Amino acid sequence: MEDRFGHRISYLRVSITDRCNERCTYCMPHELQEWLAREDVLTYEETLRLIRIATELGVSKIRITGGEPLTRRDVLGFIQRLPAIPGINDIGISTNGTLLARLCSRRPVGDAGLASQGLSHASHSEAATEEKTMAHALRAAGVNSINISLDTLDREAYAQTTGRDFLPQVLDGIDAAIAAQFPLIKLNCVMMRGRNEHQLIALVEFAAARNLILRFIELMPVSHSEVLDETNFLPIAEARRNLEAHFGALIPEPAFRTNGPSSYYKIAGRAQRIGFIGAMTNLHFCESCNKLRLTCDGKLRPCLGSYLEFDILKVMRAGANDDELRQFFLDVVERKPEQHDFRTNYQPGRMMVAIGG
Ligand SMILES: C[S@@+](CC[C@H](N)C(=O)[O-])C[C@H]1O[C@@H](n2cnc3c(N)ncnc32)[C@H](O)[C@@H]1O
Ligand code: SF4
Repeated sequence: MEDRFGHRISYLRVSITDRCNERCTYCMPHELQEWLAREDVLTYEETLRLIRIATELGVSKIRITGGEPLTRRDVLGFIQRLPAIPGINDIGISTNGTLLARLCSRRPVGDAGLASQGLSHASHSEAATEEKTMAHALRAAGVNSINISLDTLDREAYAQTTGRDFLPQVLDGIDAAIAAQFPLIKLNCVMMRGRNEHQLIALVEFAAARNLILRFIELMPVSHSEVLDETNFLPIAEARRNLEAHFGALIPEPAFRTNGPSSYYKIAGRAQRIGFIGAMTNLHFCESCNKLRLTCDGKLRPCLGSYLEFDILKVMRAGANDDELRQFFLDVVERKPEQHDFRTNYQPGRMMVAIGG
């Protein structure tokens, strides 16, 4: 699939739930309690069908997201079915990390049955023989890349940002992901002035000690409208300057890419890579966009930062055949904008938690 501006679409981000066990200020309002009704959410069967159709049109990379994807029932059973879809060669998941260290029980026969119910929370070293952490189970199910959100190492600031005191669970979750040996683990930090600007160096050292890629993300206006203002927005250029004042010049690595819009740098004298996602200030941000998004309520979105979305759930449930669904994808791609509207007149009618980040 290619759009009018030469963007080749090979990457589908799939949100499987709008629900979350955290309440990040920039993603959803704390008081939000109303989740989508179950019948308004794509079933796993429907999601798998749409993924298959996307792969027939050239999508080869899938990222499962949410809400918090690991809160949906039988998420492992769903993910285990992805590698069998012809054309998929890269399966990723984005998570807040809170549930990665949870233990999952293995059904006694066959490997099709990794039950998703966690029995307790424990560090990976305590896992009994029949039990695996969620991180191990995801890796075994075929996930090769995992993005874990981590905005701060300060427990109080973490609780303030996410509305939950879950930092210890997240740190256990990161350990569990490392133990599970994902080929690619990235930490994502959304930057907010006054909230975590003094944590950037600590986060770099945390990632360095664990040999993980760390990415700093500019706050985007995808939530209720008052989330992003001049007092809390921290541009990537300023973050880079602050890091350079501490670590010395960062060395650009234009050839290193991870399928997304991040620009990567190395710290002199280290192998460590740091990424910057400057959706607001990087004017070339959209040039290499290769993404489509499928929301959990069955909307295809050609761009995160545009109000455009198209209801594929409705046509699918009205009986559309595969040819018609393929054409629906092509029509959406045809309407992919050249760039996002975040800097101009974006109306945050949909929260990030509903779109899938
Ligand atoms: C919506 S979350 C879904 C996956 C998972 N719950 C998590 O937190 O990683 C995906 C990503 O979007 C980021 N995000 C959410 N709201 C954002 C905003 N307003 N601006 C920038 N990034 C945002 C999160 O930090 C996270 O890295
Ligand atoms: S960013 Fe992720 S963890 Fe935070 S509220 Fe949104 S979906 Fe939940």
